[in-house]
Amino acid sequence: KILILDFGSQVTQLIARRVREANVYCEVHPCDVTEAWVRDYAKDGSLKGIILSGSHASVTEDTTDRAPQAVFELGLPVLGICYGMQTMAQQLGGKVENGHKREFGFAAVRARGHTALLKDIADFTTPEGHGMLNVWMSHGDKVTELPPGFKLMASTDSCPIAGMADEARRFYAVQFHPEVTHTVQGKALLERFVLGICGTTPDWVMRDHIAEAVEQIRQQVGDEEVILGLSGGVDSSVAAALIHRAIGDQLTCVFVDHGLLRLNEGDMVMDMFVGKLHAKVIRVDASDLFLGKLAGVSEPEAKRKIIGGLFVDVFKAEAAKLKAGDGGHKGATFLAQGTIYPDVIESGGAKSKKAVTIKSHHNVGGLPEQLGLKLLEPLRDLFKDEVRELGVALGLPPEMVYRHPFPGPGLGVRILGEVKKEYADLLRRADAIFIEELRNFTDEATGKTWYDLTSQAFTVFLPVKSVGVMGDGRTYDYVVALRAVQTSDFMTADWAELPYALLKKVSGRIINEVRGINRVTYDVSSKPPATIEWE
Ligand code: XMP
Repeated sequence: KILILDFGSQVTQLIARRVREANVYCEVHPCDVTEAWVRDYAKDGSLKGIILSGSHASVTEDTTDRAPQAVFELGLPVLGICYGMQTMAQQLGGKVENGHKREFGFAAVRARGHTALLKDIADFTTPEGHGMLNVWMSHGDKVTELPPGFKLMASTDSCPIAGMADEARRFYAVQFHPEVTHTVQGKALLERFVLGICGTTPDWVMRDHIAEAVEQIRQQVGDEEVILGLSGGVDSSVAAALIHRAIGDQLTCVFVDHGLLRLNEGDMVMDMFVGKLHAKVIRVDASDLFLGKLAGVSEPEAKRKIIGGLFVDVFKAEAAKLKAGDGGHKGATFLAQGTIYPDVIESGGAKSKKAVTIKSHHNVGGLPEQLGLKLLEPLRDLFKDEVRELGVALGLPPEMVYRHPFPGPGLGVRILGEVKKEYADLLRRADAIFIEELRNFTDEATGKTWYDLTSQAFTVFLPVKSVGVMGDGRTYDYVVALRAVQTSDFMTADWAELPYALLKKVSGRIINEVRGINRVTYDVSSKPPATIEWE
């Protein structure tokens, strides 16, 4: 395995992502782990190399983090990236200076091809015959003096030491960011480090992972019983399928239907898990409860709080019953959650307390403690695309596993203002038409459907009426907005340039098939400044 020490860069996760893409297992840990922790971590021999991440901090200040010195004393290869390079330089006797001005953006780096890391890797060659790399830079400080034993590996005009290497000790460092896709050869460089220089075997594959994960769940759970909150979303569905594969009927899923799900969603979840996988699922129809409590409430945050709070209450009541057991039945002792690796990193479980928190997550909460249950999180080490791959390998249908994300509060935040059953019913039908047509339309250039070409697409219900004409009559009905965005991280997003033919088909069908809606609009706002959801 590979250890990534996180100094707080926003893109540390991407380093892990790239390493996993090379089929090598890796873990991200905070940079301030102790010397003893590092030595212990390396003890069993499975650790093959260490990567030091970037950071927004400066090593020229005394209070900023350094790598545990043990990192350089284990005899293992080390790769420093950006801040990681600077701290490596400073800790090993080189010099780092404050650069006064930040360098941010694309740069062409002259790669000195004599090192094992960059040999024969180049994007283009200059007339003088120098191999060049197109890279992404983001730094203020720079290394101005190589530590003893190091030689120059890469340079730019503004950053004469943009890469350095001590090949005898297998220490490498680059000032640029190989983990971002802007650095064209970044993936090749990281692969070369983990596979070539560290000598790992690319054996991190999903098939083996299932067997391993099943064994681990069996060991952890023994003959006890497990409860899982099934939402129909990707993470909880894959967690349920995996745990069911491991312990069968010792798992009971609780599916809370808050009445704000998409068309037929509840039935589809039941068909899949009960009909096909033969799992035990308790479906709690709480739609009257939710709609009752939402009556008269129109402020978005108030709506979110009501839905979130009720959800926890309903789930807790069911879980408490299962925990108590009945008759000769001993009761559940574990609560399973579909927590995935980005949740763990973002919520500080693997502590990235140094990175600025962008979004707080709802599924790593205090629920298990409140319920007095032990926690089971079989997807904790996996990234989203690995979770999807696992889902398919477990036999879940690709349409379910590759579904667009759906917010916890469901249609509650897609009906603007007060939520009413009448609105939810209209919205469900309009939204189903939009999604169906996104799946029907294929883009010729890519051969992909527009559902796959968009990251998230849905319909929003606007509780205003507009005038229309149908046949000989005047109509006075509701308006919906279609929303479709493209994004890689959901932090920023562009509205999708859907083909007019698709928009025309969707609008025609919604107005003709959903009596009560007589106008369809398309949302052409990007995030920021708009958000993806309307509330
Ligand atoms: P916004 O609207 O903030 O949405 O641009 C970004 C992404 O987050 C999803 N979202 C939520 N997901 N619970 C969730 O599980 C929520 O309360 C929630 N609110 C927004 C949204 O659908 C989009 O993918």
